[in-house]
Amino acid sequence: MKAIEIRNKYLKFFEKNGHKIIPSASLIPENDPSVLFNTAGMQPLVPYLLGEKHPEGRRLTDYQKCVRTNDIDEVGDNRHLTYFEMLGNWSLGDYFKEESIAMSYKFLTEELGIPNEKISVTCFAGDKDCPKDTVAYECWKKAGIPDERIYFFGKDDNWWIAGEEGPCGPDTEMFYDTGKPKCSPECNPACDCGKYVEIWNNVFMEFYKDKNGYTKLKQQNVDTGLGLERMTMLLQGKETPFEIELFAPVMEKLEKLQKVDNIQSRRIIAEHLRSSMMIINDGGRPSNVDRGYILRRLLRRMTRHMNKLEIDLSILGDIIDTSIESLKELYPELEKNKETIKQVIITEKDKFIKTLKNGEKEFEKVANKTKNNNQTIIDAESVFNLYETYGFPPEMTEELASEQGLTVDMKNYQKLFEEHQAKSRMGSDIKFKGGLASTGEIETKYHTATHLLNAALKVVLGNHVHQKGSNITTERLRFDFSHGAKMTDEEKQKVEDLVNEYIKQDIKVERIEMKKEEALKLGAEAMFLDKYGEDVIVYKIGDISLEFCGGPHVESTGCLGTFKIKKEEASSAGVRRIKAILL
Ligand code: ALA
Repeated sequence: MKAIEIRNKYLKFFEKNGHKIIPSASLIPENDPSVLFNTAGMQPLVPYLLGEKHPEGRRLTDYQKCVRTNDIDEVGDNRHLTYFEMLGNWSLGDYFKEESIAMSYKFLTEELGIPNEKISVTCFAGDKDCPKDTVAYECWKKAGIPDERIYFFGKDDNWWIAGEEGPCGPDTEMFYDTGKPKCSPECNPACDCGKYVEIWNNVFMEFYKDKNGYTKLKQQNVDTGLGLERMTMLLQGKETPFEIELFAPVMEKLEKLQKVDNIQSRRIIAEHLRSSMMIINDGGRPSNVDRGYILRRLLRRMTRHMNKLEIDLSILGDIIDTSIESLKELYPELEKNKETIKQVIITEKDKFIKTLKNGEKEFEKVANKTKNNNQTIIDAESVFNLYETYGFPPEMTEELASEQGLTVDMKNYQKLFEEHQAKSRMGSDIKFKGGLASTGEIETKYHTATHLLNAALKVVLGNHVHQKGSNITTERLRFDFSHGAKMTDEEKQKVEDLVNEYIKQDIKVERIEMKKEEALKLGAEAMFLDKYGEDVIVYKIGDISLEFCGGPHVESTGCLGTFKIKKEEASSAGVRRIKAILL
């Protein structure tokens, strides 16, 4: 069965079972700087898992484009991918475990034709936060899975949450038995030997986790995820996703073009090319920060591996054509945006190959020097120089080093990098302050009002509120924050009253320099923690607000006037936006 057939069968099956088919969200979450890419089908649905009404109802199904970047360096082996497609079905406070498991079993056995004997499942074993999932167990028994193929594991294996905070719950996972022998008598689905391959995860989301622990959600949800490439590979009896129709033509082409044989390099090229095309198609562009940097890393790593195979780099356009040809049935948009995609990729490649050769020479020098000094760790200055002068992402230097049995001093590299960033930031701070002397009084007021608003939202809505974005003009402030539901009129009124109360109290605003550690201990709010060095500035407003911030702020809250919320609206999944003014 081809990937497109599996996707179509999936969506139709759930449609037949009362689900509305919704479109995939963009890979790039809108206005949400806290995540770089959508990493699961549930991410764009967070507000609805928390209780907001979805316009399409309480049973939904879709395919979601996902990018997971934690394993970039693993790509090249026989299974890791950075981009993948997740098929999912959701109950938003509608059906729960029984129906979910019954439908999954039916789909796997009847629609995909997987024999019962090939399926093993795992359920949550229970702990202090949530009891053992005997309901899921009973459902599997009822479906016909015998005891010896039902396993119980703890939170490490059978609990799902995206990140540290959010909706979550116990899950039940389905595994496909490849028929390989057990690697040991204890071998089970949690084992990584390759006998058991996870094919589907059904999460029973009825909890919310924040730093104070778990609370029950308003409703019991089901969130499921089935990896399309992996399922296609298994059903086609292939050993790796690189052998299915989405990758095979590119893999073959690379094999023809290469002058040096290396299967890992071919996989890296094919995989990184597909991810990059999908990211570019959704609006991503290479840069030195955040998601742009991930895209740059993917494209530069791809280019280096083409170079390693001694493939003529001017042929990249043809390779892109081949890749789009094999993907366009799933993603017709790639064909439509082909010229833009090509242009972005080829421009980035051209930029990089100018310095790649010299950078490789420089790397050889550094590697030899390290070895001649009887060292195995490449020093941070060299890694930084390779980045600054030759555009080698440090992860790439690390990879080159490992090919020669060397490592790099990443920790000190990070320090150097932060120092460098702090210096360039200082430059822009000075510019900012210069401008402020003449025109910035009103913006300064809005800046302080933003801190008060953040604090008041926490009091009224709860500690899950965190800043997700902020923008200030002379006319208004705009503040994005994490919160799952539309604010009620009463909540808005309370927040407004509280901010005005803080203003009336005329609280002193203090600028304090301290160590990052210390600030964190005191519970200071930070939007992008990684962006701060060791020494930080925090602004303290009495005992109501403590935030990492470069300022500037007013001296005391009394001068802010009257605070008024003009608008409260959705900004993106799980993020609300407030526009407010000072009168
Ligand atoms: N959200 C679940 C996962 O990503 C289904 O595995």
